[in-house]
Amino acid sequence: MCGIMGYLGEKPAAKVIIEGLKKHEYRGYDSAGLTVLDNGIFKKARAVGRVTNLEELVSRGDFAGTVGIGHTRWATHGGVTVENAHPHESSDGRVILVHNGIIENSRVVKEELQRLGIEFFTDTDTESAAQYLGYIYDGDPKSAIEKLVARIRGAFALVIMFRDRPDEIWVARKGSPLVLAHGVGETACASDPVALLSYSRAMFFMEDDEFACLTRDGITFYTFEGREIHHRPTFLDWDSSVADRGAYPHFMLKEIHEQPEVVIKTIGQRIKDSKIDLSNEIPWTAEQIKKFKKVHFVACGTSYYATLASSLLWESIGKFEIRPEVASEYRYRDIPIDKETLAIFVSQSGETADTLHAARKAKAAGATCLLITNVKGSTIDRELGLSLITQAGPEIAVAATKTFTAQLMILNLLGLYLAKLKGTLSAEQEKLFADELSQIPAKISVVLSTEKQIEKIANTYADKKGFLFIGRGFAYPSTLEGALKLKEISYMHAESYPAGEMKHGPIALLDDNLPVVAMVPKDNMWEKTVSNIEESLARRSPVIAVATEGDVSISNYTSNIIYLPATLPELYTLIAVIPLQLFAYYVARFKGCDIDKPRNLAKSVTVE
Ligand code: G6P
Repeated sequence: MCGIMGYLGEKPAAKVIIEGLKKHEYRGYDSAGLTVLDNGIFKKARAVGRVTNLEELVSRGDFAGTVGIGHTRWATHGGVTVENAHPHESSDGRVILVHNGIIENSRVVKEELQRLGIEFFTDTDTESAAQYLGYIYDGDPKSAIEKLVARIRGAFALVIMFRDRPDEIWVARKGSPLVLAHGVGETACASDPVALLSYSRAMFFMEDDEFACLTRDGITFYTFEGREIHHRPTFLDWDSSVADRGAYPHFMLKEIHEQPEVVIKTIGQRIKDSKIDLSNEIPWTAEQIKKFKKVHFVACGTSYYATLASSLLWESIGKFEIRPEVASEYRYRDIPIDKETLAIFVSQSGETADTLHAARKAKAAGATCLLITNVKGSTIDRELGLSLITQAGPEIAVAATKTFTAQLMILNLLGLYLAKLKGTLSAEQEKLFADELSQIPAKISVVLSTEKQIEKIANTYADKKGFLFIGRGFAYPSTLEGALKLKEISYMHAESYPAGEMKHGPIALLDDNLPVVAMVPKDNMWEKTVSNIEESLARRSPVIAVATEGDVSISNYTSNIIYLPATLPELYTLIAVIPLQLFAYYVARFKGCDIDKPRNLAKSVTVE
């Protein structure tokens, strides 16, 4: 998705903006651009491809100036060309802006302006906003923006400079994320708070239907009707070094290795003296919980797989009627939602458009709603007003890893806590789970220590045509996430199936060019999954077995074995996902893929 960076201060704006845009690269983009305003001149640079291309361009020109705006573009309207890259300027050269989102009535606005004789230069929807603003601007930015936001429809975060206002940046938001921060003598805005950590930890997350004026001295907020309003900042306790790769070759590998620490932080005070306690965060009484007749889990991508994995614990321990749903389906289907529904939304970013709309729908239908997110202050967090925050810190690689384990940990803690209040979790079980959950970080570390062996297996099979992932019961959800990780970063075809379904289709694919990754924990399903392994071997598929430590008999079937420490079946995915993340990483690395920024993908999907 597009990324925005704006800066106004004492430093050279172009340099600051390029650094800020680099922090947005993970969002996925295909071109980048910036403009600085210097002595009444808009100095503009735009390039197709990486931000480094833009940086190169800027290094060869004169881009002095301490106020500027920049953008990474993920093409929607108009091809990937320099002309279509932002910023976009009005024909009269008085206004320039960058935009994240989609202006739905851009065609109508464009035709109207063209009839008035205004010439357009790009295929973008954004240019209609720039041209309209140029057309109506009469020296009063505030009233021009009021008119603009009343005229355009759709989703937007706009960052605007007026040529005759060298000490101001104006921003407006409806539906697309935008964060502001004010430091000493400098003010900045960005799509992602990570880009602003060096200015301040006090962040202003723009609200929908509001605009603001940024100066070096501060920020003034207005409603779309022009009424001045005041906002309190949200304090982010993120460490800016977290957004640094350190000695790791990729953010993804760094983030995989951060998981033991992330899980410890996410458990935090939620487990104490072998007891699971979320009473400081969850306001519902035992009576209320008993009244939840159905529980909806709603999310996208990896977050959805975290809900699937935890749903098995919620149903077996909490005895809840669970419905995990993909947000893009949930928001449009006619699913019965009422006051007896508990709807839990999971979104790492808290900004995913489909999850946001699904959350609005459930809230409007009277459901009790809760968000699990990594970003306090994000749009869904603010709209729902009740969130459990994962303590994963910023995740930079597009492929989610540490946020998945953090989400899964918190979903499990919540499921167990509600089960306790509901009366389906005995004191003995609570102790058993609490103690085992506390062991998870150490067990993840054990798995991470087998990295070399996972790399070796990955390298052996990286040139195959694809992979089939199989597992049963509690071992099934990890296969979904394992296959997704591989697809995302290595561009290899990977399918996940409940092992028992193999005979109903995927077995037709098996041959020596399609390895099978079998999750085969030592549980009551072991023999059945081993039968599926035998079926695969009979069709010459190489088998990679993810087995439980001490299971020597699995070596009768394959020599490609990754051992995992034993855990409770309900907690299996928390450990089992780790080797699958590493496996995907090393396959992608073997193939020379752009691991942290895979093609066509965006970290945070803020348009439908
Ligand atoms: C995109 C990302 C995934 C992520 C999904 C949901 O597809 O590439 O990594 O799982 O969005 O994002 P969310 O922020 O809502 O968890």
